[in-house]
Amino acid sequence: MNKSVSVFLATLGLILSQLALAQQGTSDVRTLRGADAAVTDQAPAARPYAGKAPGRQKPIARTFGTQPPLIPHSIEDMDEVTLQSNPCISCHGPDNYKAARAPKMAGSHFKNRDAKTPSAMSQAWYQCTACHVPQVDAKPLVQNIFRGAVETKKKH
Ligand code: HEC
Ligand code: HEC
Repeated sequence: MNKSVSVFLATLGLILSQLALAQQGTSDVRTLRGADAAVTDQAPAARPYAGKAPGRQKPIARTFGTQPPLIPHSIEDMDEVTLQSNPCISCHGPDNYKAARAPKMAGSHFKNRDAKTPSAMSQAWYQCTACHVPQVDAKPLVQNIFRGAVETKKKH
């Protein structure tokens, strides 16, 4: 075969295979949620909190050392933290935890930003659900292979 013809054919073959690859690639482009990026976001359906009223739920194993423990009970009707009232403190606060048979807030919650321990709870920790979150029985939105660094079991 003529040399220039064979170079031409080889180049053509390369271009065609690249085109096929590119086409395959674009048809695979999807967002992590599976929808086209231009489509309005699909909010998942609202679900009730997992766990019943506090008192008989087992603590959820922690997956890393400094993790704020997950809330094992439902917080239905008790997540409204206002200036005047904080339902979480009425069970987990130092004056109430014994009567409520609830775990006491950790010692860190009584330290202020200078690492000093005031007699009352530090206001920096007032908004409990900024760190402690209730659970919902739902499939993960995207598949993941998360495994905790430390699987600690904590007993009260
Ligand atoms: C009526 C009392 C009560 C109220 C109100 C309450 N809890 Fe609890 N909480 C408990 C009890 C009791 C437990 C122990 C588990 C159980 O028995 O359900 C617990 C467990 C927890 C734990 C798990 C602790 C661990 O070491 O694993 C966290 C975190 C927690 N609660 C946070 C909260 C937050 C945040 C709020 C407010 C939104 C709240 N709780 C409101 C009684 C209460
Ligand atoms: C800035 C994040 C943050 C906020 C806000 C916060 N916590 Fe915590 N909480 C933690 C972490 C982290 C721990 C794990 C222990 C530690 O490192 O201090 C913890 C531990 C706890 C425990 C378990 C204590 C034990 O000995 O097992 C309870 C109960 C708790 N917090 C309740 C509360 C309540 C009630 C509030 C609101 C008044 C609150 N927390 C606010 C981060 C937070």
